[in-house]
Amino acid sequence: MCGIVGYIGEQDATSILLNGLKRLEYRGYDSAGVAVVNGGLTVKKRVGKVSVLDRVLQTEPVSGTVGIGHTRWATHGAPNDLNAHPHTDEDGEIALIHNGIIENYAALKKKLAADGYTFRSETDTEVLVVLIRAFYDELGDMAKAFRYALKQVVGAYGIAMVSAFDPNRLYVARNGSPLAIGIGDGEFIVASDASAIVQHTRQVVYLDDGEMAVIERDRYVTKRIDDDTTVDKEVEEVEFDLAEIEKGGYDHFMLKEIFEQPETIRNAMRGRLDSEASTVRLGGLMNVIDRLRDAQRLIIVGCGTSFHAGLVGEYLIEGLAGIPVEVEYASEFRYRDPIITKDDIVIAISQSGETSDTLAALREAKRRGAMTLGIVNVVGSSIARETDAGVYSHAGPEIGVASTKAFTSQLMVLALMAVKLARMKRMSASEGEAVLAALRELPEKVEYALSRHEQIQEIAKAYAQAPNFLYLGRGYNYPVALEGALKLKEISYIHAEGYPAAEMKHGPIALIDENMPVVFIAAQDGVYNKVVSNIEEVRARNGRVIAITNEGNQQIEGLAEHVIYVPETLPFLSPIINVLPLQLLSYYMAVERGCNVDQPRNLAKSVTVE
Ligand code: G6P
Repeated sequence: MCGIVGYIGEQDATSILLNGLKRLEYRGYDSAGVAVVNGGLTVKKRVGKVSVLDRVLQTEPVSGTVGIGHTRWATHGAPNDLNAHPHTDEDGEIALIHNGIIENYAALKKKLAADGYTFRSETDTEVLVVLIRAFYDELGDMAKAFRYALKQVVGAYGIAMVSAFDPNRLYVARNGSPLAIGIGDGEFIVASDASAIVQHTRQVVYLDDGEMAVIERDRYVTKRIDDDTTVDKEVEEVEFDLAEIEKGGYDHFMLKEIFEQPETIRNAMRGRLDSEASTVRLGGLMNVIDRLRDAQRLIIVGCGTSFHAGLVGEYLIEGLAGIPVEVEYASEFRYRDPIITKDDIVIAISQSGETSDTLAALREAKRRGAMTLGIVNVVGSSIARETDAGVYSHAGPEIGVASTKAFTSQLMVLALMAVKLARMKRMSASEGEAVLAALRELPEKVEYALSRHEQIQEIAKAYAQAPNFLYLGRGYNYPVALEGALKLKEISYIHAEGYPAAEMKHGPIALIDENMPVVFIAAQDGVYNKVVSNIEEVRARNGRVIAITNEGNQQIEGLAEHVIYVPETLPFLSPIINVLPLQLLSYYMAVERGCNVDQPRNLAKSVTVE
């Protein structure tokens, strides 16, 4: 949520900032801006995408070697030029960019206004930069002013600041919103995530909450904000390379990421299948696996698509390993005074590892003494670092705002965990062997399911103008129905609901008429016949049925207007395959409707505000 980039070195800052903003645009795209030190301080900012700012900078170039840039997802104040970042003090001598929310901004603003300071925007960020200015006026020392101001702030932030008073330094700080410092040769590039850094360097330092850094061209110092003590930070090597964060010939990142799934699923199990013992090996859980096996209860928390993965996880872990599991929206869990004991294990699922509600839920669980585990995609992210143990999903960078490959990788990790625990408890070696064989076949099956994309494109053309959609599934595929509906809502702005198929009778059936497309996930598993009955019920009311079922199942042809065939696998792995046509359907629907697939309105990839 909001992209932050900063540069200090010998090169032209503006072009580096712009490139960084293009890489970070998936984090927010309501407005964009830069501030560059050049004698004084020049700020250019515009409502709209980074491309709008790019055009402005082509006609009104700004040169300098120190600067900051921001792409915004609006929290306080509408998306417009005035509310765009960077924000400055009234004289335009200090510029600040911010990702997060300053909760006590109203009180700070009142006090500053009483002291004679004035404001132009409606943002919380402007209050912070004016507060820094007020301290600078008093102390004449920028590092102190920066730190003192931050000590007064309540809320979450990742920030970067430059100033005409201190033209050879870049200031950054973090409390709740990610911030990484890329270490180059005589230059530094800071950003809210490594995708804006890897082009320049792979050496990265991640700030932790409550830390700040003062960066010059040839050195940097990291300190604690509260007491000014220096902190020695480990320099980490960023793993992914540039090709992974580029479109590679696809029209959209989302499409590229959908088609990467045979590979990402392979990556999720790479080195984790133990053929000799007919089980699964999860290095990250090695030290906690006995506790997991003996757990009285697991609680899974997550948001959005990750929450849906958690729901599949519940069915998987209860179904295979017989351990009770609860799944909860992280945003609810964190505030509802949940009952957690130290015998509970809380598992946070997150693609980004930075979602503010998930991080807060995790901290709440820790505070109450529970052991915490993470299923996270972004290596080195906050959730990955703060959990006691965990498993990376290894899907690689996901740029499309609507999550696709990260979801199937999360399902893979959950399935692997469930199998591991099941083998320790009640699954026989021969059953384990059969599961391993099914897992090995999965990438090819995924590839095959995706090869049906043309048929799905045709279906999307036929339904592109539908105002509503219903998605129904049962058992392991009930969360898949939820995920299918979410994908459609997110990127094509069609109202869609997902339901457990049988629940349809308790409400949604009232909506069904000849204009209502209903997508059924009708995998041939233990609940298949029940789903068929539900299809009949929809047909009887003239609903338009699109069914996803297994290759060779001809029975359904007479019942559904469209049948999308996918390869059969073990029932508990079927969500990984069944979600693929739904991802493709939402993608093609959005394209048909002319929507911005990779940057859907009002959404952001990483939600670092609550
Ligand atoms: C945002 C994204 C979703 C994602 C959710 C949770 O809403 O647009 O795609 O599922 O956040 O994100 P996380 O990074 O925690 O999985």
